[in-house]
Amino acid sequence: MTTATTHHPLIELQGVTKQFTGVRACSDISLTVRPGQVLCLLGHNGAGKSTLIKILSGVYTPTEGTMLIDGEPVTLGGPRDALDRGIATVHQGAGTVPLMSVARNFFLGAEPTKGRGLLRRFDAATAATIALREIQQLGIRRIRDADQLVGTMSGGERQALVIARALHFGARVLILDEPTSALGIREAETVLRAVETARERGIGVVLITHQAHQALRVGDHFAVIAHGRLVASFARGEKEAAEVIDLMAGGAAMEELEREQE
Ligand SMILES: Nc1ncnc2c1ncn2[C@@H]1O[C@H](COP(=O)(O)OP(=O)(O)OP(=O)(O)O)[C@@H](O)[C@H]1O
Ligand SMILES: [Mg+2]
Repeated sequence: MTTATTHHPLIELQGVTKQFTGVRACSDISLTVRPGQVLCLLGHNGAGKSTLIKILSGVYTPTEGTMLIDGEPVTLGGPRDALDRGIATVHQGAGTVPLMSVARNFFLGAEPTKGRGLLRRFDAATAATIALREIQQLGIRRIRDADQLVGTMSGGERQALVIARALHFGARVLILDEPTSALGIREAETVLRAVETARERGIGVVLITHQAHQALRVGDHFAVIAHGRLVASFARGEKEAAEVIDLMAGGAAMEELEREQE
């Protein structure tokens, strides 16, 4: 595979619209998810961000427009279909079971087993080794016991565990809907580092966040959504931090951009 091929888009949306009864949640959106890049989706409450990622993750089919995966037009049959194609989505506040161990949480539904037939059982040692190795590689070094209950981990560590799990199970695209919204600064830092590790491994990351400084810290591309429409799309460095913050805050710059689009 040449370098050029490696950088072909993983996912492209072309003119995608999602109409609910009475509400057009997304309107004529085009965007690209590339390997080894973080795409930040920015916008107000109700802007259409979650609807957009539900299209990317196979929960909704677009009313209009085209979705391409690896350059091929596709109609996803559902979230399972998206997952089978390497698109893993972590919905807000979701992903872990507090009263289960780190190892159990890591494998939820896909546990390694040993023995055959009636003797087939959970392979706790293998699960522990893999789970600890993978989460430590994402910078969570405080967790040394795979039997520890996830409920005792910090919020940031839990999000990192979910990210580690997605990567271990072959995600090529990782979609995170507000992974840091309930977290303090240090906790959020843990998640952002995990996002950076995912990018270094060539994963295409789609990150929704309300926090301008977090977006600026990890984003390679930015897409600002307002009233279901893409009002700005730009690469890192193309806009000043102040302008991005203004865009996110829905300030004058956003209104101006919206007028430009009309
Ligand atoms: N299943 C649905 N049926 C009807 N309307 C919907 C549905 N899902 C979302 N909407 C509407 O579409 C619009 C966009 O919603 P969406 O959840 O995508 O916004 P969001 O940008 O994720 O907001 P937030 O930042 O609050 O999470 C809203 O007006 C919402 O009420
Ligand atoms: Mg949302």
